Formats: sequence, C-alpha cells, structure tokens
Amino acid sequence: MGKKESIGIGLMGLGVVGSGVAQTLREKSIAIAQQVGCPLEIKGILVRDPSKKRAIDIPHSLMTTDPLRILNDPDVDIVIEVIGGETEAFRFIKGAIAKGKHVVTANKEVISKHSSELFELAGKHRVDIRYEASVGGGIPLIAPFKRDLLANNILAIHAIINGTTNYILTRMAKDGLDFDTALKQAQKLGYAEPDPANDIEGVDAAYKLAILATLAFRTEIHPEDIHYEGISRLTARDFRYAREFGYAIKLLAIAKKEKRSIQVRVHPAFVPEDLLLANVDGVFNAIQVEGDLVGRVIFYGRGAGSSPTASAIAADVIQLAQNIRLGLRPKPHMKLLKTKRLTPMSQIRTRYYMRLTVVDSPGVLAKISKILGDHAISIASVIQKETDEKTGTAEIVIMTHPAQESALQKALQKTSRLKVVKEIGNFIRVED
Ligand SMILES: NC(=O)c1ccc[n+]([C@@H]2O[C@H](COP(=O)([O-])OP(=O)(O)OC[C@H]3O[C@@H](n4cnc5c(N)ncnc54)[C@H](OP(=O)(O)O)[C@@H]3O)[C@@H](O)[C@H]2O)c1
Repeated sequence: MGKKESIGIGLMGLGVVGSGVAQTLREKSIAIAQQVGCPLEIKGILVRDPSKKRAIDIPHSLMTTDPLRILNDPDVDIVIEVIGGETEAFRFIKGAIAKGKHVVTANKEVISKHSSELFELAGKHRVDIRYEASVGGGIPLIAPFKRDLLANNILAIHAIINGTTNYILTRMAKDGLDFDTALKQAQKLGYAEPDPANDIEGVDAAYKLAILATLAFRTEIHPEDIHYEGISRLTARDFRYAREFGYAIKLLAIAKKEKRSIQVRVHPAFVPEDLLLANVDGVFNAIQVEGDLVGRVIFYGRGAGSSPTASAIAADVIQLAQNIRLGLRPKPHMKLLKTKRLTPMSQIRTRYYMRLTVVDSPGVLAKISKILGDHAISIASVIQKETDEKTGTAEIVIMTHPAQESALQKALQKTSRLKVVKEIGNFIRVED
C-alpha cells in the first residue's frame, strides 16, 4: 500500500478548544505537513448550531450537525473529540474507533470513567486513543508518564489541577476576599463557568487525578475511588491563620503509594509556603511527581485555555499522523492492574488545622484538649484569636501532630456537642 497523500481529520466540537485546534492546524499547516510528510485536511466539523458566530472563520460547508458525516467518511483518519460531556462524547468516540479511526480527545470525564473499555475497543480495531489535553491543558503530562517516567516507581503526586479553584483561592489569599466574592470575580473574568459546581466541589480535579493515578500506579482508578471535597467552606480567616502558621491553602489532588495500598484524595490543604506548589497562583496548574529514581519533578503551566489545550491536541494529532504516514501500528496500551487496594479515607494520617468558636470562659480549652487526647490526637500549638465581647465568644485555632482521620472525625463530633463550643468553623488537612 502506498503512502497516504494527506491525513483526514474529523473535528467534533468548535467551541473554546475546537476553535483553537482548527486555528492551530490552519496557521501551522506548512510546519505540520513537513513534520508529518503530508498535509492534514479537516474533512468535517461537528457542531450543534452551524449558524452560530465562531471565533474563527470556517467554510460553512465543513460544518455539520450529523456525527455520521464524520464517522462514516472513509477519508477521515483521525477524529478529534472536543464536544465535552459524557454520554454523547463517549458514544462518538466508540463510533469512531469502531470505524477504524484514531481518536484524540480532551475529555477528562470520558477518559477517567471509561478508559478501559475504550482502550480494549481500540486494541480490537487496531487504532490509538490519545488524551494529552485531558489533564493540565497544555502541560505535557500523559506522555511523560507513558515514556520518560517509565523506569520509576512513582511514590506520590501532589497536584494543583483546577485553574478555577486556584484562581479563587489566590484571590482569597492575596486580597482577603470571601469565597462568594472571589467566585463572582472568577465568573466575570471567564475563569469559572456560570454553573461552577464541578470545579469548586473538586469533581473536575478528581477526574484528572483518576487519569494521572491510573498511569502512575498502573492500576485502574476511577473517579468514584477518589475522596473529594471542595473549597466553598474556606473563609478569609482560614487564609489569615494559615499565613500566620507559614502555610498557603491550595486545593490539592493527592495520590500516594503506601506499602500495600494507594491513597487518592482531593481536598483543600495547608501547604508550607516555601514549597513551589504553595506559590502556584491564579489559573496556573502545577503537578509535582515523586519517583524513586528521578526524585521530585514539577510540571507547571497553563492548565486550560484555547491555545494551550490546542497545543496538546495538535501534538497528539501530529504523532498519530506520523504513525499513519509511516504505516506504524499503534503500541498496545499500558497493562493495568484491575485489582486495586485503596487506603480508606478514615485511615489516612496527617496533621490538622482546626478553627472553633467557643464560649470565652476558663476551662474551655481543657475540655477540648481532653477529647482530642482521648482520641490519641496531640496538640502541636493552639492560639486564641479574636474575642467577641458582645456574644461572649472567642475563636481558637489548633494545629495537631499527625493523627488518624477517623480519630479526628470522632473527636470533632464530640467536640461539637460540648456546650461551650458554638461552632466548628473549619478543619483542614496539612500536607507537610
Ligand atoms: N476550555 C478549556 O480550556 C479546556 C481545557 C482542557 C480540556 N477541555 C475539554 O475540552 C472539551 C471541550 O471544551 P470546550 O471548552 O471547548 O467546550 P465548549 O466551548 O462548550 O465547546 C463545545 C463544542 O462542542 C459542540 N457540541 C457540544 N455538544 C454537541 C453535540 N451533542 N453535538 C454536536 N456538537 C456538540 C458545541 O457546538 P456549538 O458551538 O454549536 O454549540 C461546541 O462547538 C471538554 O471535554 C473540556 O473538558 C477544555
């Protein structure tokens, strides 16, 4: 069989990412054709509403609302899925694979939930699926895990992988804003969706962590395996006190290998302010990976946006096009362990920060210390903060030594039942 004269592309989606991809393939067409050995040609673009005004000038004849125009086109070699969401995207990706087309996707939800089924199907049809853009936008992550870090036993991942929440946390820390005001600001600037639930509740970060942890530990980890908590309970006070103790507060996605199991969790955490992760601000992402050979490496950059995401997608497309042109068959996907041992959240051990509003009277601290002591939680430091003379209450902040999560939860429950405790304002885990 002779070499192909051009590689056909079917683009599904022409929104933020799809427009960036179309623009990149057009603006860099000569350089890409040189790398691949032949030009790439967009054969069709799937949208919902062809009459919509677009960020990029596209011949109307390329647009379609019919996915079959792309899936059934024998000249489409690679399908780029950037419509987002789960059900339809999953169906279109499966349809493309079944028709013998390679797939490039930015869809973290589909990959984190359905990768094993998709990889199996792709293996059967001898095509490849690439998903570099699904985590960290333009930051190279999937390829390094699949190649450059292969000789390592990965010990831990600590990642800031949601730009929306990192922007909100940065504004709360730097400008003393409360959560609602910081969220509104993020929405005004287009950094947060009108419905921001998936971002602020930690769901988006859990999808991405599932993808990274699966690669790192070669074990199928799904979003439902991950304990996640969002950032909406944080207050400006927590940031002030964190700073006094020498910490920043970040929404961390954490995966750690223990002797016989793996911890996977997403939640706000105190991060020592001299660490690089503590200084990752605004919409930027950073992913710190620790391997037994390489030690700590950090990937840092723009985790979203039209051009950064298009950078990752175009790289996947170029590599697939090179393989097609050279007649190379896709490499089999990484073999994954199906049996997984995950550390239950109740068994993790960390230090904790607690903020409580209590009655301003002698003996209160002794009562709280007794409950903590009864649960084998020892106090590292305690500070009495503001007192409110009108209500006769005071705020106290406690930092503990490492303790088990289940013990802390029980102690918090008991503490909240004390008459002298008006409110448990917050508790935050510390990642030293
Ligand atoms: N935005 C980012 O910075 C970013 C970064 C990394 C990864 N991603 C991922 O990339 C994907 C796309 O995100 P996006 O921000 O580009 O989304 P978006 O701006 O909402 O664009 C979605 C596009 O898909 C089309 N579409 C959606 N559902 C469709 C359907 N059922 N049939 C036909 N067309 C459909 C829409 O058509 P119309 O235009 O006609 O409505 C639109 O062009 C998502 O999986 C997202 O998680 C995004």
